[in-house]
Amino acid sequence: MKKISLIGAGNIGTILAFSISRRKLGDILLVDVVDGLAEGKCLDLSQSLSIENLNSEITGTTDLSQIKNSDAIIITAGIARKPGMSRDDLIETNFSIMAEIGTAIKKYSPESFVICITNPLDAMVWSLLKTSGLKKNMVVGMAGILDTARFKLFLSHEIGVSMDCIQTMVLGGHGDSMVPLLEHTSISGTPLKDFLKIKKIKNKQIQKIIERTRNGGGEIVSLMKNSSAFFAPASSAIEMLEAFLFNQKKLLPCSTYLDGQYNCKNVCVGVPVILGEKGVEKVIELNLNDQEFQDFNKSVNSVEELIKKCNKLLAKLN
Ligand code: NAI
Ligand code: 2OP
Repeated sequence: MKKISLIGAGNIGTILAFSISRRKLGDILLVDVVDGLAEGKCLDLSQSLSIENLNSEITGTTDLSQIKNSDAIIITAGIARKPGMSRDDLIETNFSIMAEIGTAIKKYSPESFVICITNPLDAMVWSLLKTSGLKKNMVVGMAGILDTARFKLFLSHEIGVSMDCIQTMVLGGHGDSMVPLLEHTSISGTPLKDFLKIKKIKNKQIQKIIERTRNGGGEIVSLMKNSSAFFAPASSAIEMLEAFLFNQKKLLPCSTYLDGQYNCKNVCVGVPVILGEKGVEKVIELNLNDQEFQDFNKSVNSVEELIKKCNKLLAKLN
């Protein structure tokens, strides 16, 4: 059995544990800083196994050292922004949580594949990479799959076709300036622009869908008030986990460290990557058109601002 550690037993961590047990992906370790939370959830989940003829080890703990020798680690630990808190406050707290987790990974599980979900996503992936000392192909961030799924859903409703027929990708940082790739969007192989020509969709509708996708997380927060999305984020991370565990070589938009690709250096941001047993096996450099490239750069610039703050916090640690 593979060992999969989930750090953070909140909304996403809980659904991840449930999905991993149902898909029989491995033994599960759930870690949370809140005393009893992970233990209680794991006891409940373990008691569900025999009812569904399942069998795996599911352990809850507050002790990070128990991640020892994990094959894969998914991180959702952190705090969300609360009234009165600035973005900088969130960065400071979540950076220190990533630093604590990164240090534990370096000590106890330096060969594992790590998927980060905690926000602000791209800056947290960068922070984990720097504090864990893992190779850059082994730390990756989940956001592009989620953002792409949202874009697909809204397009499918507007055009009136099944989501399964839509191929597209959303790149850049997981923020207000993420970049849905219109030129790389097709419906069963037919470019989106052909659907514009036959008036199945209008430019104005596409622009609204782009805005709704960029605000996809915020829309859900404003409906649920005290929580952000959790089902689709968990499904997206499971797709990445399975690509790694089963060496699927899937081409997926993920946040990864760029070292010259897309003219970017020392930044983590969403780009198409091939995910397999070696983690990020390749960054695919698409031929972006001028508008897409300009939008991508704008998105990278906003991620770089957050990384600058993390870099200062990192310097204070060392
Ligand atoms: P949540 O608040 O339900 O769970 C977070 C858990 O982390 C809590 O149980 C908390 O006790 C725990 N925690 C805090 N510090 C810890 C530490 N040092 N060690 C271990 N556990 C610790 O949040 P939820 O809904 O599960 O979301 C998790 C994160 O994912 C948030 O940062 C959220 O903004 C982010 N998110 C990212 C998305 C993406 O596309 N990348 C999508 C949706 C959410
Ligand atoms: C989301 O996109 C809040 O990042 C979170 O749902």
